[in-house]
Amino acid sequence: MGKKLDATALINGFKGQDILSIAQFDQPRLFLIFALAKQMKQLLLKNKSSDLLEKTITTLLFFEPSSRTFSSFAAAARRLNGTTIDILNPSQTSSVAKGESFSDTIRALETNTDCIVIRHPEIGSAQKAADAAFFVPIINAGDGAGEHPTQALMDLFTIYEHHNTLQGLTGVIAGDLLNGRTVHSLLKGLSLFEKNTIYLLSSKQLRIPRVDWLHFQNKGLKIVEIEKESDIPKNAHFWYWTRVQTERFKNTDVKKIPEHPVITTTVLELAGRQTIIMHPLPRIDEIHPDVDRDPRAMYFRSQIQNGLPIRMVLLSLVLGKI
Ligand code: NCD
Repeated sequence: MGKKLDATALINGFKGQDILSIAQFDQPRLFLIFALAKQMKQLLLKNKSSDLLEKTITTLLFFEPSSRTFSSFAAAARRLNGTTIDILNPSQTSSVAKGESFSDTIRALETNTDCIVIRHPEIGSAQKAADAAFFVPIINAGDGAGEHPTQALMDLFTIYEHHNTLQGLTGVIAGDLLNGRTVHSLLKGLSLFEKNTIYLLSSKQLRIPRVDWLHFQNKGLKIVEIEKESDIPKNAHFWYWTRVQTERFKNTDVKKIPEHPVITTTVLELAGRQTIIMHPLPRIDEIHPDVDRDPRAMYFRSQIQNGLPIRMVLLSLVLGKI
């Protein structure tokens, strides 16, 4: 009974809430979302439809390119019988092109919708949208090199499904740790749990900023920086690889793309039998396609598939429909 009441209070707390950073979650809220996502997965498996989001409209406002996040938010709303207003490339297609301010655009859009999901190249843009909006919740679908909280929810859920815990984990996070917003959100998410040790593998230019490194250490997350694949610990619970975020480079001269770690079938031999291989995608060249069929590779399996149930849950919660 007490537990039920707690869950109800947690659920009610989500109604109308902006989702801007993974840091706004705690363990009970994460586990609530995972439990609900598990139910959504059952619904999807049974091919049952639901009217949970009937008569709701979600605006998808994407200032940056997106395949997965955009389509999975759209599918999440529509699988629950909600609708979406899809605004791709607003700098060209909306009144932003006429010089309207960001805040005014948000206020105009919120008039016709129940929720705005925003992706934007600037760090802090989702927060700016939340500050501007009077009436509707804002969901951050990626703010520049800042955060990508819904990706972190699906990443944490994937790790949890495979290892049944989010504490006492050993993980490897590799690639562009400086500019990768999925990395930033995942590290924040992992620091909500105890006794996690994360090995960071990247070139010197793409290390996480020192201030973040200190922040995570202070939160109790043990961070070990390594320089080569052979330093990867045996039997890590997960490897999380990312691409170099070239679009964030001021100088986009391709010749200057720094060296970055690549998973080949040879490197994969350093993984344990239970190590899951993750990547938020898109993958460029940092995981060799021969790795895709390895049963431990989750990036085209559970990790990407978890985007839909997680976003179904999140939309339902912030719209007050669960
Ligand atoms: C990521 C992003 O946009 O930050 N993609 C995604 O949403 N799955 C990762 C990336 O672009 O490298």
